[in-house]
Amino acid sequence: MRYSIATALLACAGSSAAQDFSNDGNYGAPFPDTVYPGFESKNPVVKEGAQSNQTSPPKYPSPWGEGLGDWAQAYGKAKSFVSQLTLEEKVNLTTGTGWQLDSCVGQTGSIPRMAFRALCFQDAPTGIRFTDYNSVFPGGINVAATWDRGIAYQRGVAMAEEFKGKGIDVALGPVAGPLGRTPEGGRNWEGFSPDPVLTGYLFADTIEGIQSQGVMASAKHFIGYEQEHFRQTAEFQNYGFNITEPNSANIDDETMHELYLWPFADGVRAGAASITVVCSYNQVNNSQVCQNSYLQNYLLKGELGFQGHIVSDWLGTHSGVASVLAGLDVSMPGDSTAYHSDDSFYGANLTIAVLNGTVPAWRVDDMAMRIMAGYYYVEGNTTRDEINFNSWNYDTYGYKHSYVGDDFGQINQHVDVRGDHGRLIREWGARSTVLLKNVRNTLPLTGKEKLTAVFGDDAGPNIDGPNSCSDHGCDNGTLAIGWGSGTANYPYLVTPDFAIQSEVLSKGGAYQAVLSNGALDSARSIARAANVSMVFANSDSGETYIEVDGNLGDRNNLTFWKGADEMIETVASECNNTILVVHSTGPVLLEKWENHKNITAILWAGIPGQEAGNSIADVLYGRVNPGAKLPFTVGKSRKDYGTDILYTPNQEVPQIQYEEGVFIDYRVFDKYNETPTYEFGYGLSYTTFNYSDLRVTKIQNVSDYVPSSGWTGAAPTYRNFSTDPADHLYPANFSRVELYKYPWINSTNLTEASADPHYALPGFIPENAQNGSAQPIPKAGGAPGGNPMLWDVIYRVEATVTNTGNVVGEEVPQLYISRGGPYDPVKELRGFQRLSIEPNCSATFVVDVKRKDIMSWSTVEQDWYVRNSTKKVYVGSSSRNLPLEGMLS
Ligand SMILES: *[C@@H]1O[C@H](CO)[C@@H](O)[C@H](O)[C@H]1NC(C)=O
Ligand SMILES: *[C@@H]1O[C@H](CO)[C@@H](O)[C@H](O)[C@H]1NC(C)=O
Ligand SMILES: *[C@@H]1O[C@H](CO)[C@@H](O)[C@H](O)[C@H]1NC(C)=O
Ligand SMILES: *[C@@H]1O[C@H](CO)[C@@H](O)[C@H](O)[C@H]1NC(C)=O
Ligand SMILES: *[C@@H]1O[C@H](CO)[C@@H](O)[C@H](O)[C@H]1NC(C)=O
Ligand SMILES: *[C@@H]1O[C@H](CO)[C@@H](O)[C@H](O)[C@H]1NC(C)=O
Ligand SMILES: *[C@@H]1O[C@H](CO)[C@@H](O)[C@H](O)[C@H]1NC(C)=O
Ligand SMILES: *[C@@H]1O[C@H](CO)[C@@H](O)[C@H](O)[C@H]1NC(C)=O
Ligand SMILES: *[C@@H]1O[C@H](CO)[C@@H](O)[C@H](O)[C@H]1NC(C)=O
Repeated sequence: MRYSIATALLACAGSSAAQDFSNDGNYGAPFPDTVYPGFESKNPVVKEGAQSNQTSPPKYPSPWGEGLGDWAQAYGKAKSFVSQLTLEEKVNLTTGTGWQLDSCVGQTGSIPRMAFRALCFQDAPTGIRFTDYNSVFPGGINVAATWDRGIAYQRGVAMAEEFKGKGIDVALGPVAGPLGRTPEGGRNWEGFSPDPVLTGYLFADTIEGIQSQGVMASAKHFIGYEQEHFRQTAEFQNYGFNITEPNSANIDDETMHELYLWPFADGVRAGAASITVVCSYNQVNNSQVCQNSYLQNYLLKGELGFQGHIVSDWLGTHSGVASVLAGLDVSMPGDSTAYHSDDSFYGANLTIAVLNGTVPAWRVDDMAMRIMAGYYYVEGNTTRDEINFNSWNYDTYGYKHSYVGDDFGQINQHVDVRGDHGRLIREWGARSTVLLKNVRNTLPLTGKEKLTAVFGDDAGPNIDGPNSCSDHGCDNGTLAIGWGSGTANYPYLVTPDFAIQSEVLSKGGAYQAVLSNGALDSARSIARAANVSMVFANSDSGETYIEVDGNLGDRNNLTFWKGADEMIETVASECNNTILVVHSTGPVLLEKWENHKNITAILWAGIPGQEAGNSIADVLYGRVNPGAKLPFTVGKSRKDYGTDILYTPNQEVPQIQYEEGVFIDYRVFDKYNETPTYEFGYGLSYTTFNYSDLRVTKIQNVSDYVPSSGWTGAAPTYRNFSTDPADHLYPANFSRVELYKYPWINSTNLTEASADPHYALPGFIPENAQNGSAQPIPKAGGAPGGNPMLWDVIYRVEATVTNTGNVVGEEVPQLYISRGGPYDPVKELRGFQRLSIEPNCSATFVVDVKRKDIMSWSTVEQDWYVRNSTKKVYVGSSSRNLPLEGMLS
């Protein structure tokens, strides 16, 4: 069986119609790393409980890939390839050629001698960025709202078909960081949910879907990238903030393991491994992530046994040697500290660092091996399409090296890669729409309403065109995707106005739309006459390099944009059958509208992608019975969330203390017993469900947990190279593309070739960093994702779910566990399944509880353990509606 969630067993009074959808498919002194490539934080603050050890101690050497798990064959193939490569060829694999100098947002050098073309890295997690004839898929947050692992997988497949068709090797997604520490976080929508288990499953399924099509998935952003504010220094200096380094997310060891690292473990385990992990912009515990040996060497490559390569986020690399020794493999886009710079921390500098002995030969070999092993693991048996598009110019003819205007020719073949994905996107949009309120069975509509009225900017088009704002950095017209590098160009955008109007006209009704939130007088008179009024309202967010209405990526508030509140109030005061539809990138406060007597229905449609209008019409008119559930909490007030964005620097190096530990989203509402407007996991249907008959079975004969032990092999090296600088000079008469990053050196004097003002600065090679001898295997490690015994199934929990209404419907039963320790959350999601059940039929909800699901992280042992405490299970339809309860004995 593909997934650990078992197929639903059916018991049905009529047809056997139940369907399981799950199987388809320091805080411390800032480190002056710019001058002196730094490593780890100092002066850790040690606190009690879940806030201890906010530190990243040095961990060297960088683990070498050994073909763990199912990577053996890929490593075998990589070995025969890499053994043939020269030092420059290996370096070429690791270095981006430079920003806007090739077709893709990131492109490595090529190996002409081996007829190996460049590797193409391209955004985005919701569709291919910077091209045409591609699809715009629902945001990750919508996938989370489906709670449907099959959809996560199929969306990965569909996206990868498109990436493949354009010749892309690495798709920069999916996203599990940001996880969603704060609801205002600008890029939360690119990922899934603030719950690590929901995210973990959907992240892993997406990776498997993408990689099944021969495209490498770049699981991102690793890690602690939970807000846009102060993620990069220059960006925020330009916004007028006095900061000298990116923000530092100060995260303790327990919170790291039990919350933020959790989905990455799932991603690495999911064979995922050809995951390219994108290190993030921010610092963690006052060390830049891309040169943080604790995060990269110890957690990711050590404990999680990650066998693929780590690629920097664009301009995320802050040093050369320091980053390489701390585990970074690929530097993108190749430029050093600024776009279009003429130099690189990698390229020639990496060749020099190997020649001068600071980077051991085994390390550069490991970098090349990890890149090629990922390639063979995922793409090995498929043919690569040529790269047939150009990110920087959509014209058919133009310069291949766009920024420097070099090499004119055909640069775009305009390949239509959409297939029938529009149909799927429509379906997924509908199946991710959450029904929050539905009094007197307002929904579904019959289509026979005499006068249907639609209101709001969010129901209509962007009159300047759906792609008129670069990377969708504006909130004009209906919101169907957020802004920033996580977006893609729309091939078309079906607005709610278009779809609902078509529906009404086809049934002979009358239709009026007011598509400007400013037109309140017109809205008032139309609402008074309408039989049903639908108000569309939105709240947008994105990536901070674009400011929209004063929002620097992160949202400034959790309320509606563009004056939508006034429109809702106006319409609802006139029409006692007012339906509110929300398009948003995260939670919006809805308490006022939940309590409004004239608002008869509320739907959260998220950011559904290019078929937005058709998707919502399918739900409104009952062709799709809503079955989605909130992947986050909708609180009564912003302060209830307990976490917030740091909007104003508290130091020159902004310090973000993750003092809440694991208590984000529903965990904090539970901890302080706050009642939300709509809880995590909540969502209504046009039918009703009953829960009964909880069965908890302890699996027999499961062996006790055994920490991994033993030693790795020594670091292998492949093919020797000359250490004479003269053998590494640019080839004679080589014609260089301006600003391009090459692996060759331009002088036999390495100091001169490097041009590094701090060349050969003594004393900064960390202890053990050059040690290629056998290393101990971490207790929690030993295989991709971690110790395989963590995934042993130890309990099976089953319950019966019955459709007690009149129509077929989909329900997402949820299983929560209370681990029972003094610092543990009241309960945590550990399993779910999306089931389709016919009226009067029942389905069996089955969850296999894994050992890790009941374990806690020991900061002392550096391993998982089962705390001696009473453990309970709860099953129900949301995090606050859990009618079934039992013990895990
Ligand atoms: C490195 O890649 C560049 C760009 O593709 C290419 O021109 C150059 O020949 C490559 N160098 C080697 C040593 O293969
Ligand atoms: C930035 O802050 C530092 C100290 O916090 C101060 O010395 C410096 O003058 C400030 N720079 C600007 C431009 O305000
Ligand atoms: C090597 O890196 C240093 C910064 O560490 C930079 O100043 C220098 O220009 C780089 N050299 C090359 C050839 O890119
Ligand atoms: C080795 O080369 C790298 C890359 O140019 C440079 O950063 C480093 O300072 C050099 N170290 C020594 C000891 O020569
Ligand atoms: C490639 O082919 C080999 C042998 O036919 C097979 O075992 C392996 O699973 C294939 N890999 C991929 C990524 O399809
Ligand atoms: C579209 O958005 C931009 C940027 O937010 C704004 O300046 C412009 O007025 C908007 N255009 C329309 C037609 O709403
Ligand atoms: C919340 O932010 C949006 C977008 O910037 C803005 O339109 C709205 O007025 C803000 N709401 C409040 C209550 O300030
Ligand atoms: C809504 O208003 C209409 C027209 O004023 C009235 O006929 C109807 O009874 C009202 N419905 C409810 C549920 O109050
Ligand atoms: C912090 O972590 C280290 C191991 O990295 C461990 O030895 C130490 O006991 C931990 N401290 C606390 C307070 O948990």
